[in-house]
Amino acid sequence: MSVIKIRGGRHLDGTVDVHGSKNAVLPILAASFINGGISIIHNCPDITDVRTSIAILEHLGCEVTFKDNTVTVNSHNVTGTSIPDELMREMRSSVIFAGALVSKMGRAELSYPGGCKLGHRPIDLHLNTFRKLGIIINEEHGRIQCDATQVTPARIFLDFPSVGATENIILAAIGGEGVTTIINAAKEPEIVDLQNFLNSMGACVRGGGTDVVEITGGRPLGDCEYTVIPDRISASTYMAAVVAAGGTGEIRNVVPNHVSAFIAVMRECGASVSVRDRTIRITSSGKIRPVKLINTMPYPGFPTDAQSLVMSIMSVARGTGIIKENIFQGRYAHANELARMGADISIADKIAVVRGVRRLSGCDVYAADLRSGAALAVAALAAEGETTVHNVHYIDRGYECFDRALASLGADIERIDDIE
Ligand code: UD1
Repeated sequence: MSVIKIRGGRHLDGTVDVHGSKNAVLPILAASFINGGISIIHNCPDITDVRTSIAILEHLGCEVTFKDNTVTVNSHNVTGTSIPDELMREMRSSVIFAGALVSKMGRAELSYPGGCKLGHRPIDLHLNTFRKLGIIINEEHGRIQCDATQVTPARIFLDFPSVGATENIILAAIGGEGVTTIINAAKEPEIVDLQNFLNSMGACVRGGGTDVVEITGGRPLGDCEYTVIPDRISASTYMAAVVAAGGTGEIRNVVPNHVSAFIAVMRECGASVSVRDRTIRITSSGKIRPVKLINTMPYPGFPTDAQSLVMSIMSVARGTGIIKENIFQGRYAHANELARMGADISIADKIAVVRGVRRLSGCDVYAADLRSGAALAVAALAAEGETTVHNVHYIDRGYECFDRALASLGADIERIDDIE
């Protein structure tokens, strides 16, 4: 067990480099299974979800090395078609291997994925769209079997622009001869990154980043080398840290367009934000203006993954702000822990009303998922005294060296491992 101790109430002043994107690298690692060759993938963050993806690839017969943020996958001799339950439970993204397996092997056997508990997280959109691609699904004894002698190209309308379902369809469709079209596809930058990675191995995917994605399957695939985009939620986390604590931070290796919605909210909070190339400079007096209404939306709207971060900031704003979480039900686990620190938050269904208090006070708090953990650390930076954040393993799923990143921004932070 590990904890992070943060002594808050002091302004930050520092610089941080943003690591590669968790949500981009996970489907890219799954996609590396398909090419039957060597994929060299740079800018991979050293986080537990990447380690889990590597374990799945190795289980399926790939040879993998991970050194200095570069993962090399050799999928020449893959034999596996089945992912054990214990690896499936490690993370939600394990489900994306279904598309890769069906594409390459014509079959996948897996169980329901685990991951952060953000309320009910079904995979019905994944399975229903697979059926449209001619994949036969059988569910028995907690295992899901997907079989397709041949993936049949189709025109697929997604009821909701699910990120994971869009990725899974793209991967599955690579294996079918002909054109598959996804209408109402997710438009997240991570979809574009998956498209670019697949095209670098010889695939033909077009339209990523728009709501219509077209995949021409059956193309010959081969070796590739690719660099993953920076993590927009990590970049947002470091901006939130500066705004909550006050001070100045330089956040390097960001694609500014990917964080436009977050920057807009930080400006509404009173922060001054300047952007130059891939660097964001953010300054805050620590006197935070409340934001009237924040609605989480699919990209390019305000990301659900950053909702907890703004709740921490709103907790110490000079007035009342409202947050509406539209993507995941039950994604307010951090609110109870913030309340322990003195925050005044009421929740009814999707709506959270956050009445800013003069100060938060440090105490022991428990992360309930990845982003709630990051948000508690952000709140701790604004709080008086010492906060101990428990359940750091959640934070480790998505942030590489989180404590060191915040320390380089000037935070008084210490990680203690192996405590009882
Ligand atoms: C991805 C991200 C996650 C982010 C989310 C929304 C990764 C690894 N994770 O998750 O960080 O918070 O996008 O931006 O990329 N849904 C269904 N049925 C399905 C699939 C989804 O009802 O089959 C619902 C979900 O319960 C949720 C909504 O659709 O309410 C959005 O989910 P989705 O976009 O699929 O998120 P993930 O891909 O799981």
